[in-house]
Amino acid sequence: MKIAIGNDHAATDMKNEIMQYLMDKGYEVINVGTDGHESVDYPVYAKKVCDKVVSKEADLGIAICGTGVGISIACNKVKGIRAVCCSEPFSAKLSRQHNNSNVLCFGARVIGPELAKMIVDEWLAAEFQGGRHQKRIDEISALEAGSDL
Ligand code: RB5
Repeated sequence: MKIAIGNDHAATDMKNEIMQYLMDKGYEVINVGTDGHESVDYPVYAKKVCDKVVSKEADLGIAICGTGVGISIACNKVKGIRAVCCSEPFSAKLSRQHNNSNVLCFGARVIGPELAKMIVDEWLAAEFQGGRHQKRIDEISALEAGSDL
């Protein structure tokens, strides 16, 4: 499985740790930056991660900023992206099972690397359950297309 990962300046150290963790587990990782600590704009990196997912170059994406909030809002503006901002594993797991989330976000200033790894593990291990949830995903897609429900 290929995972695109990106971040702003607040999350470079966290990104490096999560990236190494994923590679040690055998995942292929596409790092879209930023790799420094100088101030950058998180929507730029949200877009880079989401482009990899939408184009199917990556199966899933991980996007990290200081809180996870800004980058997740930006990710959710990209057509076809269902990003979740999580600070605990339960929501991460359910976001895959029920919401078919395809980008995971969290805040490097909110949680530590060990909790982040737990969240990433739960998210990657879970699978979309389809069924009644598919109708709701279709409704989200309709909203994205500007349709009424
Ligand atoms: C950057 O200072 C900070 O605003 C950003 O990382 C993030 O927390 C935004 O939601």
